[in-house]
Amino acid sequence: MIIAVDGPTASGKGTIARALAEHFGLPHLDTGLLYRAVGRQVFLDGGDPDNGGDALTATTFPDGLLLDPELRSEVTGGLASRVSVHASVRAALYERQRAFATQPGGAVLDGRDIGTVIAPDADVKLFVTASVEARAERRWKEMQERGAARSLEEIEADLRLRDERDRTRAEAPLRAAEGAVVLDTSELDRDAAVAAAIAAVEAHL
Ligand code: C5P
Repeated sequence: MIIAVDGPTASGKGTIARALAEHFGLPHLDTGLLYRAVGRQVFLDGGDPDNGGDALTATTFPDGLLLDPELRSEVTGGLASRVSVHASVRAALYERQRAFATQPGGAVLDGRDIGTVIAPDADVKLFVTASVEARAERRWKEMQERGAARSLEEIEADLRLRDERDRTRAEAPLRAAEGAVVLDTSELDRDAAVAAAIAAVEAHL
């Protein structure tokens, strides 16, 4: 069974994908981490994330980079969003994601284009979304817990920028795949969102 989970930043898709993987006993790949590693590698190389050649070179990042805690930062998220615009970068990461999706026994993958590009043949496709206000507030709370000081307004402006870039790019823009179940988590807490996702998958089995 292949489960594709797509959606914008801070929609809850990562939490949902991890919970589905655990519930159904499937391996899970957070594909955003691959783009984050490319963004981080461009930075370490002193390259320009908006330059396709620099970004493509960075796709040969060492596997160990996937464990770098800096990958989770907002700065690296912004770099990931910039390198992921390039078709050559997306193509270079395709095989690795496709191989994960088609391993025997199935898998859960989350990202922006799993249901549309990486695994259009997925058994279940979820498109997890939430209002920009709800997502900004979640991100703000997470940051407060980590002691990072950024205003809600700044976070919301950043989210809008990333959404816009992800949705309007020519290559694999963020959108719900055909046949995807849309799950709006704006009014749901973690447990309610996970329960709704499990129910959606079970309804499609
Ligand atoms: O999901 P996450 O915030 O970690 O993704 C970081 C960035 O990587 C996104 O803003 C998006 O531009 C890019 N990405 C992508 N395709 C994916 C996963 C992530 O373009 N499948």
